[in-house]
Amino acid sequence: MNAYVGTPTSRVDGRAKVTGAAQYAGEFQAAGLLHGFVVTATIARGRIVRLDASEALRVKGVVDVLTHANRPPLADDDDAWKDEVAPEKGSPFRPLYDDVIRFNGQPVALVVAENWETAKFAATLVRIDYEQDGFATDLDAKRGHAIELDKPHKPRGDAETALNGAAVRHEADYVIPTEHHNPMELYATTTVWEGGNRLTVYDKTQGVQNVHKYLCSVFGKKPEDIRVVSPYVGGAFGSGLRPQHQVVLATLAALALERSVRVVLTRHQMYGLGYRPMTIEHVALGASADGKLDAVVHEAIAVTSRHEDFARNDTGWAEQLYRSPNSLLSHKLVHLDVSTPCDMRAPGAASGVCALECAMDELAVALKLDPIELRLKSYSERDQGEDLPYTSKQLRECYARGAESFGWNRRNPAPGSMRDGKELVGWGMATGVWEALQMPVAVRIVLTANGHAEVSCAASDIGTGTYTIVAQVAADALGLPIETIDVKLADSTFPQAPVEGGSWMAASSAHAVLAAAEDIRQELARLAKAMPGSPVGSVDIPDLVLVDGMIANGNDKSRAVSIADVMRHSRLERVEKQKLNQFAEDKSHARNTHSAVFAEVKIDEELGVIRVTRIVSAVAAGRILNTKTGRSQIMGGVVWGIGMALHEETVMDHRFGRIMNADIAEYHIPVNADVHDIEIIFVDEPDHRINRLGVKGLGEIGIVGVPAAIANAVYHATGKRIRRFPITVDKLLD
Ligand code: MOS
Repeated sequence: MNAYVGTPTSRVDGRAKVTGAAQYAGEFQAAGLLHGFVVTATIARGRIVRLDASEALRVKGVVDVLTHANRPPLADDDDAWKDEVAPEKGSPFRPLYDDVIRFNGQPVALVVAENWETAKFAATLVRIDYEQDGFATDLDAKRGHAIELDKPHKPRGDAETALNGAAVRHEADYVIPTEHHNPMELYATTTVWEGGNRLTVYDKTQGVQNVHKYLCSVFGKKPEDIRVVSPYVGGAFGSGLRPQHQVVLATLAALALERSVRVVLTRHQMYGLGYRPMTIEHVALGASADGKLDAVVHEAIAVTSRHEDFARNDTGWAEQLYRSPNSLLSHKLVHLDVSTPCDMRAPGAASGVCALECAMDELAVALKLDPIELRLKSYSERDQGEDLPYTSKQLRECYARGAESFGWNRRNPAPGSMRDGKELVGWGMATGVWEALQMPVAVRIVLTANGHAEVSCAASDIGTGTYTIVAQVAADALGLPIETIDVKLADSTFPQAPVEGGSWMAASSAHAVLAAAEDIRQELARLAKAMPGSPVGSVDIPDLVLVDGMIANGNDKSRAVSIADVMRHSRLERVEKQKLNQFAEDKSHARNTHSAVFAEVKIDEELGVIRVTRIVSAVAAGRILNTKTGRSQIMGGVVWGIGMALHEETVMDHRFGRIMNADIAEYHIPVNADVHDIEIIFVDEPDHRINRLGVKGLGEIGIVGVPAAIANAVYHATGKRIRRFPITVDKLLD
């Protein structure tokens, strides 16, 4: 029954990707395809008073220059612009809607030409005069203007009194800078004009149906007028959850010109959207003399745009993760003249848990306790926030397995005490946590008489391995070899799926496949039983299983009939079933994934150069559907965690409200030379409650805790505590 699930099955789309057969949004061709190049604002706030495109229009090959003044109609109410993951509160940004400038880098015109080079050149000739207004982009300077969220967190006990009375206390601010998405694939859309007012939109997105609904409402189109397709995505990690600017621009141009149009943002222009908001995370912890937590206070102050309230769960983890009778959490926003932040791998947790886990390390130092021991003293068997038991929680095992593999017991706790030649050696650890979410997803399975099955669903595969796990689950459920399963994803006309994000798609899509496969099984079972002289005629339908291309008695596999025979006999070319899987609502348990991350750094004492030489990440995430793609998910998160700890920072010149390092030459991300040994351990975590397969999902959990483990290792190596990320040489030598 389980030939594929749980095994390290190679990506079913691997060959298509390495041979270049896999087509990405910016690669689709169409007859007479035009190319758009975006012109962006160079001020942070104000108004366009004059936009002169005449010179650009005189360039041979330029077809049009679209602006707020000559664009086709766009919806004029906020609801039409709200996609399925838009913030509840606020007014979504509308590209080329009006003359108002809300952030530096905002798209203000689209030059459309016969080829990309011409469009790019002509874009330099568009003259724009602005009327500038006063603006603010500096969170540090505007910290005092922070506004508490509408729905404040309910306090537990009296954290302030407990903190004041605590035997040992630690309190500090940790600062996570703004960080920008840099997926390999640029943000891209090719909108194909199909004639008769119909459009096919090839878009880089995490949710084709989200984009479909958005485009229909923004452009006032009927659902059948637009089809959104996104077969392959070159990394997105949250940057493709909401519809991006270029999908509006390409579609707007296609409608205006009745031609096919491609718009690809440059790496530089991608910094006009898609970032993890800068946060100032204030954490205060109070403990008894023997190291039991008594008070947890976590206040996050985050940047958002003036037009939308983007907020994620930075602080809730502090209340959930460790047992503490008293807790006080708050999340505040500062509205600045910037684009709206967006989700970025483990949004909220990556930042908030980083601060919490650095603070826990500092508390351990103050208490002279081993950091793991401190965490075990306040280990929470129940979700403290909701006061609920977990469906499963093997975090204890993560600490044990991770520590053992890392060699943690050989650690000398004194900072600066461990060396390797010229280099200081530091060992640090941290806890990671994420949610195990699951969403309604529908899947269609078409089984043909020749023993092939097509499995289709609107879900995206953003590089995580959705194609592969869907094929694995389908192959097992239908009793067919994986080679006979053809998975089709990410077409808005396919059965419904939400955006792929939050680490929910593995569990969600897998159970939708099971649900559709069960309907197929039942249909085939009925037909098999009805065959004259059927060897399974007397077997009850629930006892019949699909295995090795047969319908067999689950209790005696020798009593079987081949699926091909059943279909031939029933004169069926195909059996088709579509099913929406909804998980039963169960508020009786908390659902989370956990990890224990161990990091080794080696630091050149004179130069301050930090290398992360080893990471061990022990992850408890229920049943792992595919240990190969799962491992890749965690590895990617760990590498990103190295970036958060040591490299990534969007630097803004607040005199202009402009990002100064909007490219991957100056915005540093880890490169191969920064990545050394990474060991990933999947801790067994049987979970019979969460869902039928016991799957919790992977992805986000890979990054959570990693930056803190590294920061704690840097402290252990040097005795220096850097609380403003990233930890760079200048801060270390300061
Ligand atoms: Mo998720 S924020 O889409 O990695």
